[in-house]
Amino acid sequence: MSPVAPAELRTACLHLRRWLPSDRAPFAAMNADPRVMEFMPALLSPAESNALAARIEAHFEQRGFGLWAVGIAGGAPFAGFIGLSVPRFTAPFTPCVEVGWRLAAEHWGRGYATEGARAALRFGFESLGLAEIVSFTVPHNLPSRRVMEKLGLTRNPADDFDHPLLPAGHPLRRHVLYRIRRPAAG
Ligand SMILES: CC(C)(COP(=O)(O)OP(=O)(O)OC[C@H]1O[C@@H](n2cnc3c(N)ncnc32)[C@H](O)[C@@H]1OP(=O)(O)O)[C@@H](O)C(=O)NCCC(=O)NCCS
Repeated sequence: MSPVAPAELRTACLHLRRWLPSDRAPFAAMNADPRVMEFMPALLSPAESNALAARIEAHFEQRGFGLWAVGIAGGAPFAGFIGLSVPRFTAPFTPCVEVGWRLAAEHWGRGYATEGARAALRFGFESLGLAEIVSFTVPHNLPSRRVMEKLGLTRNPADDFDHPLLPAGHPLRRHVLYRIRRPAAG
């Protein structure tokens, strides 16, 4: 897959853009918030959060797309990330491109995840030419599953899987998989 511009997307309320050094501190604060990290294996230290931001930037450099930093028009310069990424693990549905999101808690409940992810899906299908995009989470992450459903992704229980990066018996190991195919050309 060749790197494809643009590096930025705009929606009615959001600016999905490349990361800035000034995003690191608010990103670390998010990643240390138990509300934001309820369905993740652990809170992140500032060093771990910075390492994640660096991996996200490396993904952009390598592939030309990634998990964009989210700015809110007329509001917070950094509210979290929304975008597309290639999972680093192997599973029955990989290789694939995933749509994902993580927003600071003060920005939840305004439709931002859905609005940004809808633009990311369009970019994936129209600019990257992807045939399918997936998303996954733990079964009890109902807000995230609701975002997937609002975007038109669907789940087949036969696709449920154990996350290969988590050990057997880990309470977050079981995952549900959602998929969406590229819309037929109108
Ligand atoms: C998941 C997340 C990005 C959603 O962001 P958001 O901007 O609030 O999402 P939206 O407003 O677009 O949609 C959220 C939907 O979930 C619904 N929802 C919220 N809490 C819910 C709950 N406990 N049970 C069921 N639905 C719930 C909302 O009502 C809304 O649906 P609606 O429009 O039909 O009312 C945000 O909660 C988050 O960052 N969570 C922590 C990180 C995370 O879990 N990321 C995903 C990992 S796979």
